[in-house]
Amino acid sequence: MRILSIETSCDETGAAVLEKDNEGIRVISNVIASSAQIHAKTGGIIPEQAARMQVESIIPVIRLALLESEGKDSENSASDAIRAKNIFEQKIDSIAVTQGPGLVGSLLVGVETAKTLSFAFKKPIVPVNHLLAHIFANFIGDTTPPFPFTGLIVSGGHTDLLYFKSIGQFEWLGGTRDDAAGEALDKIGRILNLPYPAGPDIEKRAKLVINPEIKFQSPLMKDEKFDFSFSGLKAEAMRFVEKNKLNDNMINQICYATQKAIIDVLVKKTVDAAEKFNCQTIVLGGGVSANQTLIEQMKETAKNAEVFAPEKKYSTDNASMIGACALMNFKPVEWKKIKAIPELYFG
Ligand code: KG4
Ligand code: ZN
Repeated sequence: MRILSIETSCDETGAAVLEKDNEGIRVISNVIASSAQIHAKTGGIIPEQAARMQVESIIPVIRLALLESEGKDSENSASDAIRAKNIFEQKIDSIAVTQGPGLVGSLLVGVETAKTLSFAFKKPIVPVNHLLAHIFANFIGDTTPPFPFTGLIVSGGHTDLLYFKSIGQFEWLGGTRDDAAGEALDKIGRILNLPYPAGPDIEKRAKLVINPEIKFQSPLMKDEKFDFSFSGLKAEAMRFVEKNKLNDNMINQICYATQKAIIDVLVKKTVDAAEKFNCQTIVLGGGVSANQTLIEQMKETAKNAEVFAPEKKYSTDNASMIGACALMNFKPVEWKKIKAIPELYFG
């Protein structure tokens, strides 16, 4: 089965072609256009602008993903459109699209494009929950996680802990009460004048710290529930910045303290959940799971569980994870019944 998948939940426009056979799921092509550089100037995402960029990028990105799936580079010639159409018609069996959660304007671009393709070419279409897709990014390639497992989704918009019994059977254990982990990193990055999104920069700067000089609180560390809270961390960082002179070393120290406070609580609650639910497997997903320190600390702490994280390029938003999620849970829906659902969550 070969699937074309489309992801437009936020400021990335993604299209990918994936293949599933007896050996598993393989990515044939994966294309991403990001408006992150535009948003870097404003220090955050402007939804209207993100949606406009989606409109501009969606057709070229899908066309390139289709051409690359047959090993053809786009020459941007008039014949590209015909070649892409032929590939879609002849080689692609179905479509997957992110239904939510996300920004309404951005989601609508992907959903309506996918529905049009499904209608015009009579291909089955599978709507996908972006959050679950972050977890199913781990099912790309040869080594995939066994069920049951504890799943941690850590991204710019979400921090959720789940227990997965099987592919379609899962239980939500807890999530953030306010800011997501990635959101906290990005907001603190903004206070420190780091480029948006700040996660990768904070990771690099934290690595430079040999002697940690400051410590921030890991919120809800002692709370028994599997909930998180990260908005207080931003306030703590802000207070520190107001009272102290910022030089390069101090910025690195704040990055280290921020990253440590976030990772400590993510690791503790995930390992506690794995123990409580008797899971020998922990699966990470979402942009923050690109963080090597998080992965390493999770591996060191989870003595009784094997830890899986997606390949780095499939941690942050991409269309391959959407295709993988659809291929793992192949439940097509009539195109007329599919709607963008910005507030989509679990259940
Ligand atoms: O999953 P994602 O691409 O988008 C959402 O669905 O939200 O996650 C984006 C988030 C941003 O907050 C970004 O700062 C964070 O992932 N991020 C990282 C790293 N790379 C991206 N956080 C920590 N370390 C990284 N290496
Ligand atoms: Zn995401």
